[in-house]
Amino acid sequence: MPLARSLSVTSLSGLEEWDEEFDLEDAVLFEIAWEVANKVGGIYTVIQTKARLTAEEWGENYFLVGPYVESNVRTQVELIEPTNPALKSTIDKMNRSGCKVYFGRWLIEGSPYVILIDVGFTAWSLDRWKSELWENCAIGVPWFDREANDAVLFGFLTAWLLGEVRGHTPPHILAHFHEWLAGLGLVLCRQRQLPVATIFTTHATLLGRYLCAGNVDFYNNLAEFNVDKEAGDRQIYHRYCLERAAARCAHVFTTVSQITAIEAEHLLKRKPDIVTPNGLNVKKFSAMHEFQNLHAQSKNRIQEFIRGHFYGHLDFNLDKCLFLFIAGRYEFSNKGADIFLEALARLNYLLRVNHSDVTVIAFFIMPARTNNFNVETLKGQAVRKQLWDTAQTVKERFGKKLYESLLVGQLPDVSKMLDKEDFTIMKRAIFATQRQCQPPICTHNMLEDSSDPILNCIRRIGLFNSSADRVKIIFHPEFLSSTSPLLPMDYEEFVRGCHLGVFPSYYEPWGYTPAECTVMGIPSISTNLSGFGCFMEEHIADPSAYGIYILDRRYRGVDESCNQLTSFLFQFCKQSRRQRIIQRNRTERLSDLLDWRYLGRYYISARHMALVKLFDLHPLLDASGFRYPRPASVPPSPALSRHSSPHHSEAEDNDDEDERYDEDLEAEKDRMNIRQPVALPFKNKAY
Ligand code: UDP
Ligand code: G6P
Ligand code: GLC
Repeated sequence: MPLARSLSVTSLSGLEEWDEEFDLEDAVLFEIAWEVANKVGGIYTVIQTKARLTAEEWGENYFLVGPYVESNVRTQVELIEPTNPALKSTIDKMNRSGCKVYFGRWLIEGSPYVILIDVGFTAWSLDRWKSELWENCAIGVPWFDREANDAVLFGFLTAWLLGEVRGHTPPHILAHFHEWLAGLGLVLCRQRQLPVATIFTTHATLLGRYLCAGNVDFYNNLAEFNVDKEAGDRQIYHRYCLERAAARCAHVFTTVSQITAIEAEHLLKRKPDIVTPNGLNVKKFSAMHEFQNLHAQSKNRIQEFIRGHFYGHLDFNLDKCLFLFIAGRYEFSNKGADIFLEALARLNYLLRVNHSDVTVIAFFIMPARTNNFNVETLKGQAVRKQLWDTAQTVKERFGKKLYESLLVGQLPDVSKMLDKEDFTIMKRAIFATQRQCQPPICTHNMLEDSSDPILNCIRRIGLFNSSADRVKIIFHPEFLSSTSPLLPMDYEEFVRGCHLGVFPSYYEPWGYTPAECTVMGIPSISTNLSGFGCFMEEHIADPSAYGIYILDRRYRGVDESCNQLTSFLFQFCKQSRRQRIIQRNRTERLSDLLDWRYLGRYYISARHMALVKLFDLHPLLDASGFRYPRPASVPPSPALSRHSSPHHSEAEDNDDEDERYDEDLEAEKDRMNIRQPVALPFKNKAY
């Protein structure tokens, strides 16, 4: 890689000015994760959205490394010959030695290079590598844990790749590994003493996830857990060892939020060197209110789906319908689906006793094992389509008669515009909408219907989409897709069309879903146990005024939190359309806080720390300089003028008040140095 480049570090945090330059020849960045071009959950979103900024910074010297999954490659990756001679000879050599390594461009913003490794193709080496792992690191991986087996193969193959690339290039290789599934590559780099600067980012801890999913008072006992025993009891000791080894061996260890940093310190026994919060690529529309129009368009499409789903039971006013949703990996209690359901039952009661004309439809988008859509759900959309077609047919016949009458210079006789046949067609169509059962809760046939936690909870609380219920539930146990025959919308379109995202997580290191709502101008509920919730609480004096409701799950019992959630939901239902529109405008104004253009600097800093640590290229950057300042708590902070729970009156919606919010927010952005463009530390002179 004949690249001579120069590194210059200028004002990364906005708090410190740096202007030193040093030469860095041939620095190459490899970013390694199981979710590269492979969607599982939020880690995919981190890698995929961050790629543009990182590619801008590292140019041709940025390579993402992930697993080869044929279905993903077919839709997301353009396979090409390696552009770089060193990489080409490495990949050729590995492929000659019985591996299958592919090179391509990931077709996302920034079009980064990807190296994809087919771990299954090298499964013949599994036993040998496992014994090597045992001999050198004393980590024994049982045969039946498929995910851990993949982690072993992926780890040995990435370490092989990095060792091989190094042979062809001068040093200054930086390898950034994400999550335990990719962590073994890092451990092996250190064990083999490869001159590779390493970073490990954990997006959760294995033990944290497992302990929280059980019945454990997690946060009050963080310091007390006997980690080895807890991991052993849950049969994840080997995975835990891989994770802990990666965290301990890394030159730089990072995680996504302060709350997970504390967790990591206790459970992985290493304090993260720096917190690297997750960002997004914020789309700015030239017309300020374009996102409001998009909301209206997407909402129309969700309403169409609802017309089909509730056919025969459309006894509520769709114009007064609010769409709420929860989405993400299916971790019932970690994601707070349990308390969301409980709060919906309470909300249903409140709306009924208060004779509210609002109907709430709550969507649960959480993938579970299914064998496709169920017939009743598909039939709903078919019936809707048939009614639409019938209306079109009658309209055409009507139009023709009208036209003929006008042609002969007569006004039509309205009583004769619809004849017997028209009525027959229409009656037949109406008969087809008769239905013996209630509109289904679940859109798919569940494989584990009788033990499914969401379905069982619904059975217990009795929310069965009956006419009397003001709260209806739709469980869609699959991620959304624009090619779905049922609800043909991608996730982004769906979120835009909803009114409120509800994410009352108990365990959530970051939580992309509420962040995504924010940048689309959709209000959301998160918690003070989620990385996102804490981040917003830290930077915004009164988040709820901006449509960021933060549920207290830290200092309250489950029942109390559930009451608070019910109260958030009930207050939200009481808002007028105008109040919702104003609130969406405010929410959208927070997008800048979550933009990679700003948050990317924490990754930049982590990379500097690693390069400094291994290659001594530069004095260590003081990570403490990266702490965010607290917002001022003196007037004109909205904290003093706002309630901490949603509370609106028409008087509050006047323009003066909104300007005060704007001023406060703008001041906070200045304090956080958001307006200043992020200085890219690499001057790509020689590309
Ligand atoms: N998501 C998606 N399609 C869906 C529902 C969710 O792509 O139908 C994505 C969503 O955009 C988000 C991710 O799933 O980026 C969930 O990430 P989060 O950090 O909230 O939770 P995780 O599942 O990683 O714990
Ligand atoms: C956007 C659109 C408006 C529409 C409104 C509906 O603001 O620009 O035309 O009336 O959404 O808001 P709602 O909260 O009732 O879905
Ligand atoms: C993990 C966490 C989630 C976080 C995501 C990306 O999957 O569960 O909270 O948003 O990683 O960091």
